[in-house]
Amino acid sequence: MLPTIQKLARKLTPRLVEIRRHIHAHPELSGQEYKTAAYVSGVLSSYGYHVQEMVGKTGVVAELKGKNSPDDNVLAIRADMDALPILEKADIPFASKSPGIMHACGHDVHTTVGLGAAMLLSELTEAGDRPFPSTTRFLFQPAEETAQGAKWMIADGVMQDVAAILGLHTFPSIPAGNIGLRQGALTAAADDLEIVITGESGHGARPHEAIDAIWIAAQVITQLQQSISRTINPLHPAVITIGQIAGGRAPNVIADQVRLTGTVRSLHADTHALLPDWIARIAKDICALHGATCTVNYTRGCTSVLNDIDLTNLVATCATEALGNDRIQWIPDASMGAEDFANFTDIAPGTMFRLGVGFPERNVNHPLHHSQFEVDESALTTGVITMAYSACRYWQSKEKE
Ligand code: NI
Repeated sequence: MLPTIQKLARKLTPRLVEIRRHIHAHPELSGQEYKTAAYVSGVLSSYGYHVQEMVGKTGVVAELKGKNSPDDNVLAIRADMDALPILEKADIPFASKSPGIMHACGHDVHTTVGLGAAMLLSELTEAGDRPFPSTTRFLFQPAEETAQGAKWMIADGVMQDVAAILGLHTFPSIPAGNIGLRQGALTAAADDLEIVITGESGHGARPHEAIDAIWIAAQVITQLQQSISRTINPLHPAVITIGQIAGGRAPNVIADQVRLTGTVRSLHADTHALLPDWIARIAKDICALHGATCTVNYTRGCTSVLNDIDLTNLVATCATEALGNDRIQWIPDASMGAEDFANFTDIAPGTMFRLGVGFPERNVNHPLHHSQFEVDESALTTGVITMAYSACRYWQSKEKE
């Protein structure tokens, strides 16, 4: 089976490069992936797929039916499609034709690998190999960058009967031809925080007659950062970043209100669960101590991507056989970044691998979200082989059960 997959992937490669370059040149922002969705849908249809469009707003779903019916053991493969509000500065012939919008997070590669896997698996089953036992469902997701798309698609039922899900993300610091894997937490839970502190204004010369919201806000920020080190389990990391602070009207007027907004990251479910009350208590206690009041709005974003051990090992086995022994990097630390693939792994076991897209010969590979981010396109073949072979081996393991 593996040699056939490798042969098919090599045959598909020129077309994959073409697809990726088309998507790269025509990036669309989160929730506006209309042309990308239509293009994806066209490619899938040309391979005989029955395609559902407008799933989760601008998402696309296609299924490779298995022989089981009813089918409650679906394998999902997820690829995100959205781009970022960045002006591309990479010097490439297929650079963005939409000024100010760029595929700087490699979602053009994810979409192409998802399509490549769909094309390859369809050819493989047509080429005389028996159908898989159950359905393989391809999810082309919008709006990952705003952490909305996975929720939209789930609300439209894409996780129904899904028993396992596979995903990928490009990674420029891993050379093309290699993949990165991690069991357990891959990314962090990310929540939004807003704290509004209300004091009382007064003359800057007579602080004792006022309640200085700026001074109190400074204490709230400092206390939050100090308390992390004393009251949160140091082995269960938490990051609170206040990224915006606004308040005050004039240099000689004591501010009556300050608004802080920030992001809160954590890796473990226990810390994730306690953070909203923990933050609110610290903020409210400090405000009360100084006669101010505060409101704390804590909004849950996405949870941590938890890579299932068995599925991660399955991808590791497949990548080792298909790419070579030395082509897997086990990722030592989780990232405090976020990824809404977590919404899927909250529902079914899944794993996301990192697809190396770095140019091995270059000293500098610009990071994700950089205006000069570039991809070594040989990674497309690596991604498709890894994804398609993992799906095949998954189905093989199900047939044995
Ligand atoms: Ni991304």
